[in-house]
Amino acid sequence: MSFAEYKERISEGDTVILFLGHNSMQTLTVTPGKVHQTKYGALPHSDMVGRKFGTKMFSLNKKGWVYLLHPTPELWTINLPHRTQILYSTDISMIILRLALKPGSVVVESGTGSGSMSHCLIRTIAPSGHLHTFEFHSERAETARKEFEEHKIGHLVTVRCRDVCKEGFELHQVADAVFLDLPAPWEAIKHSKETLKAEGGKICSFSPCIEQVQRTCESLRTCGFRDIEVMECLSRTFEVRTVPLQVPFFGPENSLPPDPTPSDFSSRKRKLEEESESCDTTYSALQEGHVNMKLMESSLVENTPSEVKTPTDNVEHKSEISNGKAAEKSAPHFTDTDPASGLVRNVRAVMSQKANKANILTGRPLKEMTGHTGYLTFATLYAHVTSNNGRGDEEK
Ligand SMILES: C[S@@+](CC[C@H](N)C(=O)[O-])C[C@H]1O[C@@H](n2cnc3c(N)ncnc32)[C@H](O)[C@@H]1O
Repeated sequence: MSFAEYKERISEGDTVILFLGHNSMQTLTVTPGKVHQTKYGALPHSDMVGRKFGTKMFSLNKKGWVYLLHPTPELWTINLPHRTQILYSTDISMIILRLALKPGSVVVESGTGSGSMSHCLIRTIAPSGHLHTFEFHSERAETARKEFEEHKIGHLVTVRCRDVCKEGFELHQVADAVFLDLPAPWEAIKHSKETLKAEGGKICSFSPCIEQVQRTCESLRTCGFRDIEVMECLSRTFEVRTVPLQVPFFGPENSLPPDPTPSDFSSRKRKLEEESESCDTTYSALQEGHVNMKLMESSLVENTPSEVKTPTDNVEHKSEISNGKAAEKSAPHFTDTDPASGLVRNVRAVMSQKANKANILTGRPLKEMTGHTGYLTFATLYAHVTSNNGRGDEEK
């Protein structure tokens, strides 16, 4: 098992992510002799050896089961022991993309923190690239080094304990990209520039506050970086739900002319089609049973001759519509010649077919979602920019 490659079966020393349920995972290193306790009962490590990653394992008392998942940087990010604030997949994915990282890339990172970003960087640049990660907190640097070894990615990373703002990186023209997650990144920009390859490279800095971003941008400009861009990544989660469709009121039965014959129906449909494309869209939606009532209501209003009022024109009616009640008193009267009456009849037909219990499958955003984490500042160092002359555009 390695965080950078997939393997089929679990063996001793492997990291396994136990999936106990939605939003409930645990990690362990398989150590024969040890027993892992869960709310479903005990799971002896030795029973995991030889099983395929991704399979179910029942607890000893058979009260429940877990999935034995192969570790990935994404799973690690949501399960790792926090020693610091960490970066999450939404920002990480944008950073990897915008830094144009790929197998073989050489990356310089600081600070290492809890290693969330580092794991993803390593998986991206493996098997031939290298990550140089810098952390000035010696315990954190040591813990990260041990974790990388345990996760069998130690050969792809060098961890150094150093204050990069004061001492720099001591790496000269080796990196394709630099990533900074530091409280004062502007102090590390000039050192970052030295680490980038002669042909140039890219940099990204993550900062929670806009004041940090401003200072970083100033420093990037002074050091000759170009294409400076700041962005914030926010992910919006939608849940899929079947929701009851609000049934609108289209007037009492007796307000409509007698049922049309099939030929009346098709000639009315043709007329409607000619009159309005949006009306036609509504008609098709009705036929398919996928009805957006708001659209339908507005379409009715738009396509109804001025002398014919639909229930939505009436404020009183609106509340009755939302209550799903029939309101006889100000019901509209459609005549056989009104184009809208044909449409209303079709609406009726769909509603009665579905016994006024239409449900639609829809996506709606969660009420609470993760908000601001930080700003990502990206910039590029081009080969021809060697130093700053006040405008930062001196040619070689
Ligand atoms: C927010 S954490 C980084 C989290 C990391 N990106 C992750 O995803 O796990 C910032 C780290 O930078 C380290 N740090 C702060 N200033 C530093 C400096 N001048 N040189 C090196 N490391 C520094 C801190 O000790 C801390 O561990």
